[in-house]
Amino acid sequence: MNLVGLDIGTNYTKATKDGKNVTIFPSIVAYGEEKDWSLKGEGKEVYVGEEALAIIQSLENVEAMRPLHEGRLMHQSYLELAKHALRVLNATPEVVATGLPVKSSKKEREELAKDISEQLDARALIFPEPAGTLAYMGIDTGVCVDIGFGTTDIVVLSHMEYLRGDTLLVGVDWLYENIEVIIRNNVGISVTPEELTKLLTTPDYEVGRIRGGKRITISQKDVSTEYDKLMRSWVERIVSRTKLILEGLSTAIVDKLVITGGGSLLPGVYEEFEKSFEDVAKVIRPDDPITSNAKGYYTLAKILLEEKEGEEAAETKEVDKKEDKKKRKVKKE
Ligand SMILES: Nc1ncnc2c1ncn2[C@@H]1O[C@H](COP(=O)(O)OP(=O)(O)OP(=O)(O)O)[C@@H](O)[C@H]1O
Ligand SMILES: [Mg+2]
Repeated sequence: MNLVGLDIGTNYTKATKDGKNVTIFPSIVAYGEEKDWSLKGEGKEVYVGEEALAIIQSLENVEAMRPLHEGRLMHQSYLELAKHALRVLNATPEVVATGLPVKSSKKEREELAKDISEQLDARALIFPEPAGTLAYMGIDTGVCVDIGFGTTDIVVLSHMEYLRGDTLLVGVDWLYENIEVIIRNNVGISVTPEELTKLLTTPDYEVGRIRGGKRITISQKDVSTEYDKLMRSWVERIVSRTKLILEGLSTAIVDKLVITGGGSLLPGVYEEFEKSFEDVAKVIRPDDPITSNAKGYYTLAKILLEEKEGEEAAETKEVDKKEDKKKRKVKKE
């Protein structure tokens, strides 16, 4: 079965055709300026991923799109992300296994499946986002909190079946927007989410701008006190919603408590979760929280498709047996 696991995130698109190696690029689509003339009959040029990021940082007059916002596919250009992922993987899958936020609507799921079928010529299997990570970790009963850029998704699975879940419209973007404002107010420069990630995760990294003929730089230590404060109240919000979801559940289900998504990698986040859940369960994290959903969609689809194939084969066998019996009967007569 030709299968691709595809996770189009608000900040990064991840895709795999073997469940192990993952292609990852920023979820950005940029349309170049429409030219006055085009001898090749091409209208706008489209740039995707790293190329789009480079273009928007170096050129004016380009229209940059981040096709997802708060877990919603805001713009059809998300299909450019999907197509780009398949191009990079050099894949023409029959099945695309992907995810949407837990609280996405039925209509959103149907539309996504329709787009995948029409534009990518593939059948879609759509899972609630954090289920990918649980499948990747081989957990069929447990809880997963996926802290993404645009949303935080909570899912509870029991024997690989959905039990409960929720979507919070609070992801890393909430934290970043607040830090961005603080930096702007303090030193008067704007920083991109990509720069903030580097600033927070690399100790010696500096973000710099020339302003008023002067060089202005900031490093981790300039934002660390504010970051700590904001991060704690942000985690607190996610934790209290998670506890609400867990209320009344059997301890056997909550034994495996996973946090994932890029947000789980930000400084201090894992430790805050551990502390908040010390009376509930040990918090675990996959080896790579950014790619674990994509790899898990692949795994989950593979399991489901094989189960189905098995059932179909068994059914065919049954039918064959009945046919055989009929034939024998006819022969006797
Ligand atoms: N080492 C890292 N590399 C990249 N991003 C990181 C790293 N550590 C933390 N992050 C954060 O993780 C975020 C991306 O997380 P993730 O890929 O899970 O989000 P997403 O899937 O794009 O969003 P969503 O699931 O909400 O649609 C980045 O925006 C960044 O803030
Ligand atoms: Mg995500």
